[in-house]
Amino acid sequence: MKNILVTGGAGFIGSNFIKYALYNYNYNIVNFDKLTYAGNLENLIDVEFNDKYKFIKGDICNKKETESAVRENEIDTIINFAAESHVDRSILGAKEFINTNVMGTLTLLEVAKDNGIEKFLQVSTDEVYGSLPEDRKDLLFTEKNPVTTNSPYSASKASADLLCNAFYHTFKLPVLITRCSNNYGPYQFPEKLIPLMIAKAINDEKLPVYGDGKNVRDWLYVDDHCSAIFETLHKGKSGEVYNVGGNNEWYNIDIVKLILNKLGKSENLIQYVKDRPGHDRRYAIDSSKIMNELGWKPAYNFESGIEKTIRWYTKNSDWWKKVMSGEYLKYYEENYGNKVN
Ligand code: NAD
Ligand code: DAU
Repeated sequence: MKNILVTGGAGFIGSNFIKYALYNYNYNIVNFDKLTYAGNLENLIDVEFNDKYKFIKGDICNKKETESAVRENEIDTIINFAAESHVDRSILGAKEFINTNVMGTLTLLEVAKDNGIEKFLQVSTDEVYGSLPEDRKDLLFTEKNPVTTNSPYSASKASADLLCNAFYHTFKLPVLITRCSNNYGPYQFPEKLIPLMIAKAINDEKLPVYGDGKNVRDWLYVDDHCSAIFETLHKGKSGEVYNVGGNNEWYNIDIVKLILNKLGKSENLIQYVKDRPGHDRRYAIDSSKIMNELGWKPAYNFESGIEKTIRWYTKNSDWWKKVMSGEYLKYYEENYGNKVN
């Protein structure tokens, strides 16, 4: 493993991953990103002149562009982060999710197969397992759970996983899949729960909580996801799936209250709004396979991770104010306009 193509490297996890890789390892990294609304090269300003890093603007659905990036940079490893990643947007319109998440992954798999790629890691999600009952805390998602999806986003990610599995079995492409729980940390697009709530609280605006606020998510600091991806690349077995989670379940409403509390803001800012259609009730990951077989464990506890995250958004309001203008305002109106009771 020498030359890694990171797709979607200008997004939240991809940009954190590239920095993690350049600071901790000696690989050459090519960031291949279409720069959709979620892709932002400002996320990578700290490494833009690093001689082990290169950016190429390109679309994973475009075979010619993808193949040139692979050949010209003698790529031996592909990590596929590129995706449409926001559930609410997939409810407003699923087509782009099928294009990028399914067709784009298929294109990448074909390029990988035809160009002797030695490792292909698909960054997937715990959402492919559907939803867990709230009153059965003994139940967690394991790699053996069936894939049962409830949103267009999760259906598109599950389809991509199935294609990866098919390329492993049919063409012996060395594919690895990671399925991670909810990430949080710096540079997360403020359409997602934690950065949205921090930004709203700082601005003294209403914080829109879906339904009764009792949906549960399992939160992991983004660098811990990055370390799990490296453990999987270095020690994982081809054809296998590895779950990654924080063993850190929270009701949404408790996260929102925690953020308000840490920022010294009033809980009166909370506004319950209409629920997300098809809203999964609970996600909780069993990470024992990656912990026991590959020796991965998270470095952050939630207390330190959330402190660091809130500090980052407080200090970097220019970053999120910029991305929350323009196109974002139209999306916000479309998604939330009809949710307020
Ligand atoms: P993000 O939306 O912040 O970033 C996605 C990136 O992909 C952007 O830079 C965008 O420009 C790029 N992109 C989109 N379409 C593209 C295309 N056709 N070609 C090339 N680039 C394209 O997403 P994220 O939250 O960083 O998630 C990254 C990956 O991790 C996704 O595959 C997502 O499904 C998965 N994941 C996310 C989480 C989470 O909590 N955010 C958890 C588990 C898994
Ligand atoms: O579990 C992994 C997944 O986590 C990733 O695959 C996705 O890419 C990522 O977006 C995330 O999906 P969620 O739907 O869980 O994340 P989101 O931040 O959108 O929402 C988290 C919870 O907060 C969910 O129960 C919905 C709720 N929510 C979200 C928003 C944006 C609100 O109550 N209000 C909001 O305004």
